[in-house]
Amino acid sequence: MRVGIGSDHGGFELKEYIVEYLRENGIEYRDYGTNSPDSVDYPDYGKKVADGIISGKIDRGIVVCGTGIGISIACNKVKGIRAALCSDTYSARMSVEHNDANILALGGRVLGRDLAIEIVSTWLNAEFEGGRHGRRIEKISGMEC
Ligand code: RB5
Repeated sequence: MRVGIGSDHGGFELKEYIVEYLRENGIEYRDYGTNSPDSVDYPDYGKKVADGIISGKIDRGIVVCGTGIGISIACNKVKGIRAALCSDTYSARMSVEHNDANILALGGRVLGRDLAIEIVSTWLNAEFEGGRHGRRIEKISGMEC
């Protein structure tokens, strides 16, 4: 699985920590920035990761801003993206099994590092169940402009 990761300044520190986790665990990743704690706009980085999925360069994305809210809203504006903002492992697993989330959004100012890694690991290891959930995802796709 090829994972794309991006953040604004509010998520920069946690993003770097997750990158380290991906590297140490041999998970293929592409870092879309930001690359410093200097202030940037989260929609720009959400879009980079979302576009990476739509263009097929990556399979799934992880995005981080201060709360995870702004960057998840931004990602969900891109057709074909299902970004899930998660603060616990149960939601992270369900976001893939039931909602086929292709982006995980995290709050860098909300989560502790260890919990964030647990969430990332759970999310990366989850698989979409399909079946009745597929029908619901198709309905969501049908709502896209
Ligand atoms: C940046 O200060 C902050 O607004 C951003 O990281 C994010 O929390 C927005 O939702």
